[in-house]
Amino acid sequence: MDRNSNRNIEKGTAGKKRGGFTGRLGFVLAAAGSAVGLGNLWRFPYLAAKYGGGIFLLVYIVLALTFGSVLMTAEIALGRRTGQSAISAFSSIRPKWSFLGILCAVVPIIILPYYSVIGGWVCEYFFTFAAGNGAAAAADGFFESFIASPWKPLLFFALFVSVTFLVVLFGVEKGVEKSSRILMPALVILTIGVTVYSLTLPGTWEGVKYYLLPDFSRFSAKTVLAALGQLFYSMSLAMGIMITFGSYMKKDSSISSSVRQIELFDTGIALLAGLMIIPAAFAFSGGSPETLGQGPGLMFVALPKVFQSFGSVTGGILGGLFFALVIFAALTSAISLMETVVSILMDKFGLSRRRAAVIVYIGTLLLGIPSSLGFGALSGIRLFGMTILDFFDFLSNSVLMPVVAILTCVFLGYVAGCDTVLEEVEWTGRRRKENFFRVMIRYVCPVCIALILVSSVLSALGVLSL
Ligand code: TRP
Repeated sequence: MDRNSNRNIEKGTAGKKRGGFTGRLGFVLAAAGSAVGLGNLWRFPYLAAKYGGGIFLLVYIVLALTFGSVLMTAEIALGRRTGQSAISAFSSIRPKWSFLGILCAVVPIIILPYYSVIGGWVCEYFFTFAAGNGAAAAADGFFESFIASPWKPLLFFALFVSVTFLVVLFGVEKGVEKSSRILMPALVILTIGVTVYSLTLPGTWEGVKYYLLPDFSRFSAKTVLAALGQLFYSMSLAMGIMITFGSYMKKDSSISSSVRQIELFDTGIALLAGLMIIPAAFAFSGGSPETLGQGPGLMFVALPKVFQSFGSVTGGILGGLFFALVIFAALTSAISLMETVVSILMDKFGLSRRRAAVIVYIGTLLLGIPSSLGFGALSGIRLFGMTILDFFDFLSNSVLMPVVAILTCVFLGYVAGCDTVLEEVEWTGRRRKENFFRVMIRYVCPVCIALILVSSVLSALGVLSL
C-alpha cells in the first residue's frame, strides 16, 4: 500500500515545476533565516529566566537533540517526498488527512498578529534610541508605561505589519533575503560583543551560574512544556513550515546534515541571547524573582540598561544598531509567516496574490489589536489567567503545535509508514538511526507530547496544579 501511494505522489508531482534552492547552503540559510527571529532573541531568554535557568537550558537541549531533530527530519523529508506544502502534503498521501494540513495552517495565522505586536515593541525601542533617548528607555518603568499607553504600541504594531505587508505584496523577499546575509551575521557579532561586555559588569556571575548550572529542584512538568513549546516555535516546527521548505529542497542535498546545521544555528543564537540578557538582569536587579518572572518584557527591560552603562553616546549608537538588527531578524520571520498564510489562501481559495495579501494584512491588524491593548486598555481581561498576548502564545505553542506534532507522528508512524520519511533521508542501511527514528515517531514522541499537552491544558484550566 505504501509503495502505491508513494508512486502516485511521484506521478502527481512530476509534471509540476517548483522553484528550488540552488544548493544545500541556500536551503540551510533560508530555513535558518526563517527560524531565527524573536523566538531566539526575545522568547527564549524570558522563558529560560522564568523556568529555572540552567534546568530549562538542559531540558531544551535534550529535547532539541531528540524530538527536535526527529520532527524536523520528518517534516523536511515529507515535504521533499511529496513536493507539496503542508496544506496538501498530508492529503496527497491520504486524502482523509487533509484536516492536518489545515490545522498546520491555523498556527501561523495565530502567531503572526502577536509576533507583530512584539515586532512593534522592538520598533519603539529602536526609535527611542535613534532619537537619542536611550537613557529614558533604560529608566525603571519605561517598558510598563509604554506597553500600557493607549496608542503608541498600536502605531508601532501597525508600522511593523505594514512593512511586512509591503514586502510580501511587492514580492521583494529576495532583496530582503540578500540583505539578511549581511545583517544577520552583523546581529550575531553585535550580540557576542554585548554579551562579552555585559559579563564584565559587576553582579553578572550570579546570573551566569543561574543560567548555566541546572538546579534540579526547579524541575517541573511546566519546565518541559515550556521548553517543548519553545522548541517548536523557535525551529518553526509543527506548523508545516519545514514541510514547505522541504518541498523546495533538491533531491541530492543531505537532509540529516541540513537538520544538524539548522538546529545548531538556531539553538546557538538562542543560547547566546540568553547569556546576553539573563546575567544582565542579575546585574541590574540582583536576579529578583520579579525580574526573572518578568515574562515578555525581560529583553526590553534588561538590555537598555546594559547599553546605558556604556555612556549615553556610545550606548545610544549601540542600542540603536542592536534594535535595528533585531527589527530585521523579526521582519524576516514575519515576512515568512505572512507569506505562508498568503500562499495558503491563494492555494485554498484560488485568490490572486494581491487579494490574499490584502486580506491577510487586514486580518493581522484586526487580530493583533487585542493582543496589543491587552497590556493597557484591555488589561482587565485575562484568559485563563493570561494576558491576551500570552493566551495566543499559549494557544499556538502549548496547545496547537503539540497537537500537530502528535498527529504528524501518528500519520507517519501508523498511517503512511515511517518508510515515507526513511526512504527520503540518506541513512538507508544505518539501522541504528532508522530504528531510533521509528521508535521516536511511533512511541516516544506521541506519548510524551500527549502527556505534556494534557497536563498543561489541565493546569491552564485550573484542574491540575503543576
Ligand atoms: N522561528 C521564528 C522565531 O524564532 C518564529 C516562527 C515561528 C516563524 N513559526 C514561523 C518564522 C514560521 C517564520 C515562519 O522567531
